[in-house]
Amino acid sequence: MRRESEQREQLVRRLAAAVRGASLYAIDHPVVVRALDGFTTSALALLQRGPKVTIGCIGDDLVVDDTKLLLKTGASLGGFTRGLRDQDIEKITLETGATEADLKGLVEALAGAKPGLVSVSDWLRTRAVRHIAIGKVAIEDDPSDNTGIAAALKVYRSATSIAEQLWQMAKAGELPDPAPARKLIEMLTRMVSRDRTSLMALTALKKQDTYTFTHMVNVAVLTIAQARSLNLAPSLTREFGLAALMHDIGKIHTPTEILNKPDKLTKEEFDIMKRHVVDGASILRRTPEMPALAPVVAFEHHLRLDRSGYPENIVDRELNLCTLVVTIADVFDALRSKRAYREGLASARVRAMMAEASGTYHPTLLRRFINLVGMFPAGSLVLLNTDEVGVVTHEHPADPLRPQVRIAFSAHGERLEQTRLVNTWERNERGDYPYAVVESVDPSMLQVDPLSLL
Ligand SMILES: [Fe+2]
Ligand SMILES: [Fe+2]
Repeated sequence: MRRESEQREQLVRRLAAAVRGASLYAIDHPVVVRALDGFTTSALALLQRGPKVTIGCIGDDLVVDDTKLLLKTGASLGGFTRGLRDQDIEKITLETGATEADLKGLVEALAGAKPGLVSVSDWLRTRAVRHIAIGKVAIEDDPSDNTGIAAALKVYRSATSIAEQLWQMAKAGELPDPAPARKLIEMLTRMVSRDRTSLMALTALKKQDTYTFTHMVNVAVLTIAQARSLNLAPSLTREFGLAALMHDIGKIHTPTEILNKPDKLTKEEFDIMKRHVVDGASILRRTPEMPALAPVVAFEHHLRLDRSGYPENIVDRELNLCTLVVTIADVFDALRSKRAYREGLASARVRAMMAEASGTYHPTLLRRFINLVGMFPAGSLVLLNTDEVGVVTHEHPADPLRPQVRIAFSAHGERLEQTRLVNTWERNERGDYPYAVVESVDPSMLQVDPLSLL
């Protein structure tokens, strides 16, 4: 038994060594040939015992055939797992029938012989490498495999508790552990790609007694969703998510009285609060394996496009794209807890952001964000400029502020017998918009189920 697990471990180490060699030297260099031989011998021996061997990479953990191999190993395997992660590979399956040439092809692909934008599995296919599959791991107990609000709620809850652990660790003076942080981001990324709507809906939850941790998770979710909609590479999307998760970590040094103060902060208190951007950057710079983006975002996330925020006296600094994205997520989520926006309506928050938009947020990113969160999603009740109230039937693909609305209540609040459909994006002959949405309406105020009006 012990022998078997040793063989598995040897397989991974030999694969890692071959990949490292092939990334440094030509494939026929003696060093590489020797390493390849070792890997091939291990692989073929294991394949004689069973129909396949699976190497999984989850966060920093390597798993062979579902037995967890905990490899605390130093640089060699660390580089290997990082390489897999960057190429978005979670699982490599070797199947019986794999030849020496197939295994060599795999090593070449992992070592970076393929052109940048081609995925490893596509490259293997074009090179006719067979009996090797590249894919994603289905993690046990990972509720992000399911969709729907219940599944999203599970993901969301465990994400918040991991966020809390990270925070408490950092507060206790240890550096935040990158492994659970990365796992959390992995979970959220999957959920965002599978069922964005449900997860985003949760970020609107108002009853929060754990503001700090839900804020971490919400900003991460809203950032990952934006990164995906910008079509960023998966590895970069995850870095954005991590940076977003940790953006306020410097607040572990902010006194709790200031952090939880419900009233406006005094000048002195605000000055103390402002330190969290510098503190955060310094914590994250010291945290091993944090993407370089994380301290940058922590430092920049209150600067604003026109540098009107803090730290003060920063001129001539080009803000990172990730900062621009995180800032939008950060402010949007912070407004959730403000009194004035207690309805929790996305539209009220978006409107507040648009009111100060010029010079504060990146206009294109803000517009895309509004599209993403759905300013007036189908099924929501809205008040029109004519004082009539209707239900949104369709969103305009290009202009989230101008949906199609079925008018159901007159300007005097009477329920109409004959509903009317208007396209608020249409102009009249003078070029004006006769209909415009003013704001969202809370359906409980009109005692109506908007879905029944659709
Ligand atoms: Fe902050
Ligand atoms: Fe924040």
